[in-house]
Amino acid sequence: MTFANGTRLPRILPGPMEGVTAGAWLKILTRRQWVNAWWTPFLRISIGVPRRSRLAAWLAPYLATGLPVIAQIMGEDAARLAETARRLRELGAVAIDLNCACPSPVVVRNHSGGERLRHPEWIATTLRAMKQAMGEAPVGVKLRVGYESPDEFATCIAPAVREARPDFVTVHFRTVRERYEPIADGLDRLSRARHALSGLTVIGSGDLFTPQDAIAMHERCGVDAVAPARGMLANPRLLVDVAQALRGEMPTPFTLQEKASLLGEFVVHSPRHFQLQIAANLYGKNSPEFNAFLKK
Ligand SMILES: Cc1cc2nc3c(=O)[nH]c(=O)nc-3n(C[C@H](O)[C@H](O)[C@H](O)COP(=O)(O)O)c2cc1C
Repeated sequence: MTFANGTRLPRILPGPMEGVTAGAWLKILTRRQWVNAWWTPFLRISIGVPRRSRLAAWLAPYLATGLPVIAQIMGEDAARLAETARRLRELGAVAIDLNCACPSPVVVRNHSGGERLRHPEWIATTLRAMKQAMGEAPVGVKLRVGYESPDEFATCIAPAVREARPDFVTVHFRTVRERYEPIADGLDRLSRARHALSGLTVIGSGDLFTPQDAIAMHERCGVDAVAPARGMLANPRLLVDVAQALRGEMPTPFTLQEKASLLGEFVVHSPRHFQLQIAANLYGKNSPEFNAFLKK
């Protein structure tokens, strides 16, 4: 994807994951060249605009990878968000993304993340303020298809977003109320959302666990890019596999030996709880390999 100011971002992006997209995850996946850009989890802006030094420290591990970084922010105060966006841009983020999607009860109670979908006019105002603060640099917004119901998208959310003309819009096909529940018609919803955002760059999100899922999303929804998230935990090489599949190539199998070697790196570079999370996802919680790892 190439934006008005010449910024380029890959069409297969690692969806941000709070608690995962940090530390060893960044270092190991970057070293293995399994991602071509990083997207930070949200930084919540509440009582004031963070000082430059704090923002610099927060951004540092992402910038240290040498890859383009999309910085994500969330909050309720448009002016503070716009000023934070400007500072993050100056500090080296290539694009800034406004999170209006997070369904966490704490975030929603604080009128942030997915709660913002109840105020589409606020989303438009905030995106305009961010664009003004950031000059030509790309501004994005992360959405779910509604707060209570997917019907909100075409009637309320998309018209406001279209009017603000962000450079990219990420759509996760669940509503905030649905959190991570299984849903049957995700691709239909995303397809309708893509249609309602015609003329804008749309990144698809939701249940991208395999390369086939990404192909289906591309074919059925006509999105410009995809951002798998949880699927990367079971297969941290998923973005490479998706790229191969989209080129029509067979994915290379991820062998037990390769999994063990990858886990070995996490053992050296991350705390035990994160090692266990990685091992459970790589092998499956009921696998002999995970049980053996538990006993180590
Ligand atoms: C543990 C976890 C943390 C997440 N943190 C963020 C976040 O900080 N910002 C964001 O935009 N999305 C976040 N997400 C949502 C994912 O980026 C993605 O939109 C969602 O999981 C659906 O995609 P998937 O089904 O491929 O995982 C998070 C998801 C998970 C599971």
